Amino acid sequence: MWLKKSESSLTKKIKNLADNVEEQLRFFQQIGAGFLNVSEKTQILPKENREEREAPELRMKRLESAVLSCRGCRLSETRTKAVPGEGDIRTGLMFVGEGPGRDEDIQGKPFVGRAGQLLTKIIAAMKYDRNQVYITNVVKCRPPNNRNPKPEEIEQCRDYLLEQIDIIQPRVIVTLGRVAADFFVKSSLKMTDLRGHFYDFQGIQVMPTFHPSYLVRNEGNKSLKRMVWEDMKKVMAFLGKK
Ligand code: URA
Repeated sequence: MWLKKSESSLTKKIKNLADNVEEQLRFFQQIGAGFLNVSEKTQILPKENREEREAPELRMKRLESAVLSCRGCRLSETRTKAVPGEGDIRTGLMFVGEGPGRDEDIQGKPFVGRAGQLLTKIIAAMKYDRNQVYITNVVKCRPPNNRNPKPEEIEQCRDYLLEQIDIIQPRVIVTLGRVAADFFVKSSLKMTDLRGHFYDFQGIQVMPTFHPSYLVRNEGNKSLKRMVWEDMKKVMAFLGKK
């Protein structure tokens, strides 16, 4: 009995202390105290909005608007539209590409060009609708002339992808191409050897496979398509998809 009483007064004290610290941090943010260096992405929510942290839809909306107005790197200077990602945020299956291309940059949606059409077919072959999975990229703005994103651009965008994963908590992440594979799996293996195996990323199974635009560029090479399909069958089996 005494223990319960003292426990609850201790809990109250800790809660008060946490509230005070949070209040103080919010004040520092408001006055722009540089030493805190709190980015927009990690801003402390006002007390009345605290429930937002628990609601995935609200968290995703917040993240999307942060991406749409992001000026974190030079890619924002040349983009038409930033591309946060789209799909079911309660899905078990996420696809991560490299970065938006020309069509995606115009439409603000991921994988809508030629490579995207192929990805949509692959997803359909897995017996999912495109809107039953979540599709996004490592960087959210188009690199000029579709060059690979630079390490500092990937670094700037890193928290967005990590936050999306934290919101969705998928069971499997399929990475498309080298850039996405490198984000999750530290390996010097060639893509041909890396693909087709599951790797652990914070308890999530990551399946690297070839980028659909690589398949589009090598249309005549049927074995590439077959390999991607082998990889996707492993993902389906893991997810219990018949
Ligand atoms: N390539 C990518 O990596 N992502 C897209 O969204 C489109 C093409």
